Amino acid sequence: MARRNIYQVGDSTLRQISKPVTEFDDKLSQLIDDMIETLVYADGAGLAAPQVGVLKRVFVATFDGGRTFIEAVNPVIVKTKGSRTAAEGCLSIPNIREKVERPRHVVVNAFDRHGNPIVLKADNFDASCFCHEIDHLDGILFTDKTVGKKKGSK
Ligand code: NI
Repeated sequence: MARRNIYQVGDSTLRQISKPVTEFDDKLSQLIDDMIETLVYADGAGLAAPQVGVLKRVFVATFDGGRTFIEAVNPVIVKTKGSRTAAEGCLSIPNIREKVERPRHVVVNAFDRHGNPIVLKADNFDASCFCHEIDHLDGILFTDKTVGKKKGSK
């Protein structure tokens, strides 16, 4: 395993749309292990592959109060319910926390590193985190969605 560099806001990589994973191989496994190590070291809640410069649809996140880590390959939000507004931060945008409205509950279909389908159900903080990470795969940063922010402002 190896820690990877976390790309910071302003890098155009963070604005790209990531591609679906097609090969569930050792390289993918290595990427996921490295992302978890990087996340733990940075003491974050979630990390998406484009944040380490890899434009693939993969994220890792803490889950259930940090008791476990989840990995999600080719994640798709299939169900949302309710909403909540809470402050978020991002390892790619240091020292900024802003409020974002997200679903209170989400169901995400994804795959594990071996290509097995998984269903992730998340509430509250975990739901916000999953949505935040999936946004990264589409080049969206939480600061794009800050509540009360004027459209078009940066
Ligand atoms: Ni982020």
